Amino acid sequence: MLRMVSGKPSLFSVLFMTQIFHGITSHQCGAGIYSIFQKMLRGHTYMKIESQAGTVALECREACHTDFRCQSYNIDILNSKCELNNRTKEARPEDFVKHKDRYYMARNSKRVPLGSIPELPAYSCREIKASEGGKAVSGTYWLDSTRSGNSILAHCDMKTEVADYCIQHRCQNNARCINHYVNYTCACNLSGWTGNFCEQEPEFKAVFTNLGSTAAGGPSSIGSHYTGQDHDGQVTVSTGIQLWTVPYTGEYRIEAIGGAGWYGKNSVVQNGGRGAKLTGNFNLTKDEIIRILVGHKGKRGPNSKTTTGGGGGTFVVRGTNTPLIIAGGGGGIKNMSERHSGCDASLSTTGNTGYSSSLGSGGTSGNGGGSAGNRPGGGGGGFFGNGGGGGKGGKGFLNGGKGGTYHGGFGGGGGNPAYSGGAGGGGGYSGGAGGVNEDPSCGGGGGSFNSGTNQENECCYNTAGNGKVTITFIE
Ligand SMILES: *[C@@H]1O[C@H](CO)[C@@H](O)[C@H](O)[C@H]1NC(C)=O
Ligand SMILES: *[C@@H]1O[C@H](CO)[C@@H](O)[C@H](O)[C@H]1NC(C)=O
Ligand SMILES: *[C@@H]1O[C@H](CO)[C@@H](O)[C@H](O)[C@H]1NC(C)=O
Ligand SMILES: *[C@@H]1O[C@H](CO)[C@@H](O)[C@H](O)[C@H]1NC(C)=O
Ligand SMILES: *[C@@H]1O[C@H](CO)[C@@H](O)[C@H](O)[C@H]1NC(C)=O
Repeated sequence: MLRMVSGKPSLFSVLFMTQIFHGITSHQCGAGIYSIFQKMLRGHTYMKIESQAGTVALECREACHTDFRCQSYNIDILNSKCELNNRTKEARPEDFVKHKDRYYMARNSKRVPLGSIPELPAYSCREIKASEGGKAVSGTYWLDSTRSGNSILAHCDMKTEVADYCIQHRCQNNARCINHYVNYTCACNLSGWTGNFCEQEPEFKAVFTNLGSTAAGGPSSIGSHYTGQDHDGQVTVSTGIQLWTVPYTGEYRIEAIGGAGWYGKNSVVQNGGRGAKLTGNFNLTKDEIIRILVGHKGKRGPNSKTTTGGGGGTFVVRGTNTPLIIAGGGGGIKNMSERHSGCDASLSTTGNTGYSSSLGSGGTSGNGGGSAGNRPGGGGGGFFGNGGGGGKGGKGFLNGGKGGTYHGGFGGGGGNPAYSGGAGGGGGYSGGAGGVNEDPSCGGGGGSFNSGTNQENECCYNTAGNGKVTITFIE
């Protein structure tokens, strides 16, 4: 059934009823097709079909009606071409233009309303209103205002034509959705999360060093040691101890390595007692302060070349006095013909006794190591208490951790007497014993402590250098 609307031929009449309807521009065919001669919709074609003369109109109609994206189509009769559009002339009146050989064909039957499915997003609420006329009501629609290819389900207020893109946003990890005119953005809640949707975990791996210091009292400033690294700007130094402000709440893996002891110049073994390496996982909270004391290696002086100081322990402490992980430092070696485990750090909380014919006593329960006999080395400092031997004893962590006089490493390393004598004990959770003035002998390695999960602990790791702390954010 055909109904004449104005005075030129429709496409169907061109093909099937040319003679009868000659001179008609447009008309409706049933309720389904509405054709307009010498007009086309420009710029919204998503698919082109080439056909044969005679069948283009039918093929094009069929193609449009079987594709939910199709809102209208243009037919080029002369060249038997068909263009499927994903907009109607109502949605984009500005693109509805003259063309002498074209027909614009509306799809009036089973046309999917613009913005009602993700495959057919609208560019704006206004466009939906234009496309759907009075039928468009306020509600949820699929929009892609930035033409990014991603449809966003938004709420359109058809009165104000304003879209709320936050109704079903993809912002993650507690991020806040911020609605913009054309889409939304995510304001990440926990700093460090990145990505458009705050979906990417922060990456953080920081190495804390002795900051180039060899002083018994530790470093006095960060200098540019951490510049450009993940902990840049998060660390200050107070009396040798590094105060790190935790950047993100979450679980961290912390590895602490104690400082090595050193050795007398005539020793057969050419390195000091070894510092421990302890690793564990800890939950830390953003903005809490972690105190980090990186133990120094023990040293040897010009006036006492045959003996040496003990290595400092490395301490990672929550707040002011809750130890998380402490790696004992190695004892100083006066002269040893072979390694002995008493000179290395201990994995238990008790400090080692060192080695000689008459053993000294390692500290227990966070106390310093002992120092006894003729011209002994100083005991290593513990978490709470100082090592024995007066000034030769290393200071406890809570007393500042200064290395003993002479040559004890920062972190409670015991010192050696002026002009020969026993070697210093290592600092640690409890200090190692000061070495006796015998040959062979060494100071005891310091004790260790680890309250983390997934522990990996190694007593005899650091052969010859300063300690170190490595902290990695896990999640
Ligand atoms: C609609 O058609 C235009 C080309 O005219 C195309 O760029 C756009 O991606 C199409 N939109 C969809 C959702 O297919
Ligand atoms: C929102 O649009 C702006 C501007 O086009 C774009 O920079 C931003 O990436 C978009 N955000 C999302 C979440 O798509
Ligand atoms: C982060 O999320 C928490 C919990 O949802 C909320 O209480 C807090 O206000 C949010 N902070 C920011 C800056 O959005
Ligand atoms: C950290 O907290 C999470 C969540 O409560 C827990 O599953 C995890 O075992 C904790 N990790 C440590 C090292 O305590
Ligand atoms: C060092 O110890 C070895 C073996 O115990 C010994 O032979 C050597 O004489 C000692 N060296 C010194 C300078 O005491």
